[in-house]
Amino acid sequence: MAAKKTINVALIGMGFMGRTHSNAWGQVGRFFKPPVKAAMHTLFGQEAENPRAFADNFGWCNVSTDWKKTVKCPEIDLVDVATPNFMHAPVALAALKAGKNVACEKPIAGTLKDARAMADLAKTKKLKTFVWYNYRRVPAVALAHQLVKQGKVGKIRHVRAQYLQDWADESVPLAWRFDKKLAGSGAHGDLNAHIIDMTRFVTGEEITEISGAITETFIKRRKLMTGVVSGGIAGGLKSSGKSGPVTVDDCVLFLARFSGGAVASFEAARQATGNQNCNGFEINGTKGSIKFNFERMNELEFYDATSLRATQGWTTIMCTHAGDHPYVDAWWPDAHPIGYEHGFTNQAYDILRVLAGKKPTVPIPDFADAYQTQRVLEAVLLSAKKKTPVKVKDVK
Ligand SMILES: NC(=O)c1ccc[n+]([C@@H]2O[C@H](COP(=O)([O-])OP(=O)(O)OC[C@H]3O[C@@H](n4cnc5c(N)ncnc54)[C@H](O)[C@@H]3O)[C@@H](O)[C@H]2O)c1
Repeated sequence: MAAKKTINVALIGMGFMGRTHSNAWGQVGRFFKPPVKAAMHTLFGQEAENPRAFADNFGWCNVSTDWKKTVKCPEIDLVDVATPNFMHAPVALAALKAGKNVACEKPIAGTLKDARAMADLAKTKKLKTFVWYNYRRVPAVALAHQLVKQGKVGKIRHVRAQYLQDWADESVPLAWRFDKKLAGSGAHGDLNAHIIDMTRFVTGEEITEISGAITETFIKRRKLMTGVVSGGIAGGLKSSGKSGPVTVDDCVLFLARFSGGAVASFEAARQATGNQNCNGFEINGTKGSIKFNFERMNELEFYDATSLRATQGWTTIMCTHAGDHPYVDAWWPDAHPIGYEHGFTNQAYDILRVLAGKKPTVPIPDFADAYQTQRVLEAVLLSAKKKTPVKVKDVK
């Protein structure tokens, strides 16, 4: 692989993530100097979605309506999976069996069983796998990881993380995100997955125990969806007069312990009115604290408890300084903020680095790593069901 100069990518799925990934594969070579190039070889989409028009718009060369054929195509080097969660395992397993590297959307799968199958097969192959936990590649979050690693926070005692959204009111139809068979879980796999991964990444520690958890579904039935997705989460979805049951959670809260001794709280919600994309954490250590909220994604809050007591206070770091802040030198001049899509392009860059045998800018999750996050997700659901603490080591 290291000798290869171009990586032919096949993208499976053309919804919301299909758009972010297409943008990333298109932009990565324009802004970064990756050691190998990405070629937008083939786009898979369902006939009704008009994949040809999407491909022409984003720059994919070929179009397919048969993903099974696409993942076996001899010209493809990397299969990029951007479908609903129930399809991650079938597509990723077929791709690995066909000898392809795989970049899969998060959570790695809808179920722990699927996640285990993916991690197990990946372990037997000399192929690279990646999971799109894109928030690791927001410069402020990557900086938080580096600050903790440099010891600036000291020994971590508290982790508080939340991912709060408010898009899922009664008017939103029964899309795949509300169907357990297709999604695995609701806000949990959608949002807690991100903050579990992000806090594992930033702290460098593992979650060892779930001490208690609550799950709730506030809206138990929704109108059936008609037509196809339009590239957003809820926007533009159409519904019929009939309704069906919601089979996933709307919110999940849990308490946890980290391997270094820190205690933690997590909350994911889809109806936390007023919190549109409040994805963040606060970490308190013996030497300092850090705080991040994606709604102000270019900023990291840092509290240095080793500085003069008289002048101690939260510092807002604008993470836009080339050379000092990860990924930033590829983008705009200092102090010119970046946006949501840049995290994905930063990840595309690191995927290309790894495929060329080089180290990523900051650690990138493979299937084995994302399987650990899936074990935590599962342990939370078990804890909520049994109303008892659950050790993550007992969940395999
Ligand atoms: N990294 C992130 O921040 C982030 C954000 C949103 C979604 N996601 C993840 O990305 C994945 C896709 O989510 P999305 O928001 O793009 O979904 P979406 O509904 O917008 O798009 C899904 C795509 O998969 C296709 N698809 C659906 N069912 C199919 C089937 N049976 N056969 C073939 N194709 C099918 C759809 O036609 C569509 O092209 C999910 O795993 C989700 O959890 C990640």
